[in-house]
Amino acid sequence: MSKLLLTKPLDTLLQEAQETGEHSLRRALGPINLLTLGIGAVIGAGIFVITGQAAAQFAGPAILLSFILAGIACAFAGLCYAEFASMIPIAGSAYTYSYATLGELVAWIIGWDLILEYAFGAATVAVGWSGHFRAFLKDIGMALPAMPHSDLVVFGKAVHLNYDYVGFLVITAITAILVIGIKESANFTTAIVILKVAVVCMFIAMGAGFLMRHHGQPNYWHPFIPPNTGVRGQFGWSGILRGAGVVFFAYIGFDAVSTAAQEAKNPKRDMPFGILGSLIICTLLYILVSGILTRLVPYSQLNVPDPVVVGIRVTGQQWATFLVELGAIAGLATVMLVMLLGQSRVFYSMSRDGLLWPWASKIHPRFRTPYISSIVVGLFVAILAMLVPLSVLDEMTSVGTLLAFVLVSAGVLVMRRSHPHLNRPFRTPWVPVVPILAILFSTLLIIGLSPMTQLRLVVWLVIGLAIYFSYGRKHSKVQKLQLATPQPKPEPTMAD
Ligand code: ALA
Repeated sequence: MSKLLLTKPLDTLLQEAQETGEHSLRRALGPINLLTLGIGAVIGAGIFVITGQAAAQFAGPAILLSFILAGIACAFAGLCYAEFASMIPIAGSAYTYSYATLGELVAWIIGWDLILEYAFGAATVAVGWSGHFRAFLKDIGMALPAMPHSDLVVFGKAVHLNYDYVGFLVITAITAILVIGIKESANFTTAIVILKVAVVCMFIAMGAGFLMRHHGQPNYWHPFIPPNTGVRGQFGWSGILRGAGVVFFAYIGFDAVSTAAQEAKNPKRDMPFGILGSLIICTLLYILVSGILTRLVPYSQLNVPDPVVVGIRVTGQQWATFLVELGAIAGLATVMLVMLLGQSRVFYSMSRDGLLWPWASKIHPRFRTPYISSIVVGLFVAILAMLVPLSVLDEMTSVGTLLAFVLVSAGVLVMRRSHPHLNRPFRTPWVPVVPILAILFSTLLIIGLSPMTQLRLVVWLVIGLAIYFSYGRKHSKVQKLQLATPQPKPEPTMAD
């Protein structure tokens, strides 16, 4: 049992963080790269697709309040991530933090759980991207052939299977960029993030301008909180809560910045900037977009795959509609890129610790990327995107992320007790209040998800434990090292 609770010594982690040379990751990312990486991962299917659907089904114009609520929950968790990412700037994110604080078994669980956030997240967005891309091509008269499909019988139930080959292909293309290099990936992200943010700002400016010029426009904000229909979660205050659980998906990704800590030039200074900066910018944009969207269009008309496009059409400017469509297509691409990046870096870290097979941490001598990990992850995600429906994928992504938030926040509490004097370039404020609130909010949002999702999470974790006990436990480097030379754990001193 005690083996399962072994923690990875901090001095080993800090040594790993300082490695250089052709077998290590390249430190190429500055503060702006990290900020754009965060925004690149966050703004995507959540704001371009899910906002409208959540407004139409759960909260009405008060979806704006749902965004504020989900944003507050993310802010608490973001403050905890920022402390860890600046203190232990290593590629594995929540996995590594748990290994240092809560022990190997929890670290494994969280590493396995992050597959839900990153791999399932990338697959969710790939499916959304495919829908947008097809619609766009159709609009310009270049419709793609219909998806092949088959009807199967699984456990006596008829299953209709679509083969989303567009989703498959887009993930394959992004994987190729990731293999070629971190700098190339970051430049690709920066260019698209500029376009994506410009399109979102354009929507806000044009929408607000239109409303100011057209005083006769009906006030669709009335009633701002539509009365509850009698069913919990359908409008009223419970609808705002349900909406918060759903739009939480839109915030996922700011934490992915922390997976690139080992590729940051100055992680101690820049990690908190990347994580919290992207969260603040996206929260503001989300509040403005959701407010203007529900003021431009009656919320009941927003249950469509492209609600922001529906919103901008009201302004009557065809070129702006075209730009929003383009922004969504380009914008979703960077979400997939950062998610895939995060996933391969988590596998890289787990493999270096001996908990996954050695191939997962092999670095390409020229590109300096964990190329085998990237390719395996890319293939897995491409197949998921091709076969699994969006509604299953997106809730799995949210539940995986929320569980990671809980464990990272608990890790901050544990670390403050076990290593109170460690140098923390960024300190989470008001500890223990902020981490406790992060845990409470995240748990609440998990409870709000569907029971089927909770069950799938349990099944997923059981599969993960089977792999841990059959492989990871036997190959763990920390176990080998610490059991060979048992020693008290001194508190590491960090030279700044
Ligand atoms: N936050 C990301 C999105 O909305 C996952 O697409």
